[in-house]
Amino acid sequence: MIQNVKGTKDVLPDTIRQWHFVEDRIRSAVEKYGYEELRTPIFEKTEVFSRSIGEETDIVNKEMYTFTDRGGESLTLRPEMTAALVRAVIQNGLEKQNPILRLWYFGSFFRYERPQKGRFREFHQFGAECIGSPNPESDTEVIMLAANLINSLGIKEYKLNLNTLGTDEVRRKYRDELVAYLEKNKADLSGESLARMALNPLRVLDSKDEKDRNVVASAPKILDFLDNNSLNHFNSVKQYLECVGINYYVEPLLVRGLDYYSHTVFEFQSTALGAQDSFGGGGRYDGLFEQLGGKPVPAVGFAMGVERLILIMESLNLFPENVNKTDFFIIAPDEQYYGEALKIAEIVRGRGFSAQTDLMRRSMKSQMKESNRQNAKYTIICGEDEMKSGSIMLKNMSTGEQEIVPIGGLITKEF
Ligand code: HAM
Repeated sequence: MIQNVKGTKDVLPDTIRQWHFVEDRIRSAVEKYGYEELRTPIFEKTEVFSRSIGEETDIVNKEMYTFTDRGGESLTLRPEMTAALVRAVIQNGLEKQNPILRLWYFGSFFRYERPQKGRFREFHQFGAECIGSPNPESDTEVIMLAANLINSLGIKEYKLNLNTLGTDEVRRKYRDELVAYLEKNKADLSGESLARMALNPLRVLDSKDEKDRNVVASAPKILDFLDNNSLNHFNSVKQYLECVGINYYVEPLLVRGLDYYSHTVFEFQSTALGAQDSFGGGGRYDGLFEQLGGKPVPAVGFAMGVERLILIMESLNLFPENVNKTDFFIIAPDEQYYGEALKIAEIVRGRGFSAQTDLMRRSMKSQMKESNRQNAKYTIICGEDEMKSGSIMLKNMSTGEQEIVPIGGLITKEF
């Protein structure tokens, strides 16, 4: 038997209900904030990602699904959306049409990671990007949108970690100090961190290795290197978050795994997830437009892992009980009324209800069982006696009440 690819998942009818629930909440959250949807192709020219996410990041270095197409061009299945979205904004001149763009997206993304709970090779992200404002109000707005969605899903227990990476200049100075410190403590670092130290030293800060953590605990903190501009921006974001009642924790070790960030970075964590405890993250990326060949445009945004949101909701029992699969189930016990059953189903569908017929030519008893299994609100029985007088038997499945209704009456009857 041919199996699906490792790290991918089929979404079966039983679980699609959960996806629709989350997707509905996402749509109503983004509408409240005036964000508009943007869709881009699943694959891009490889440089869209290598130039933006950073050559020395795990994503670009070892996780991208990159292939050469038949025309000899290097293409990559998108590992994230921000770079692709910025490419699309520049290419279509959207930033010229409006000084502020509020965009959101939902789709599948691909990273060659080691699959485990909450970590897949194909996964889904919902994200929002606020483009055009350098001001801390926009950092706050995207965090508010994320928090609004999280609340509307019923997730109460979560942690918002916040940090700043300052300007490029701040980061350069900090990087030098950090490397000098790490050099001195080389002997106590893991092999992975030693490799990172040379190429992407800030990533040593969020190593999960016990040895590294001991070294990192006394490492210089970026917060001590901030210039006035960076400090003011960070303080304003914190102040606005307090103003709108969003709790946060300043986490000076938070650096994120993508290189395009400056100033604010943040991550949402849930203990319901286990090792992969981050279910969303984002930050400001004021340099990305230029990196991708555009004019400088400030921007900030975030993305959330949809599988991780669903895992959290499942483990906290936040999905509503199974709802009715159909409003009406129409039973015809006798072959001569199969056509009538199809017709009656169409009458109630015409009124906006959902309706199903048996299709399997089963016995009256089995069809009744099926109606129960479908959790139908009403069962319509096309019994011989009723049919002869142009009527049906209508059963309200929650009260058990039955009544005979003329077929024509179904067009106007109140349900
Ligand atoms: P990211 O932190 O790489 O950020 O991914 C965002 C979220 O996607 C993660 O917090 C996680 O929930 C989910 N995710 C990532 N990788 C996997 C995986 N292999 N399996 C399951 N879920 C995963 C970004 O992608 C940035 N583009 C976010 C952003 C938007 N920054 C600014 N704007």
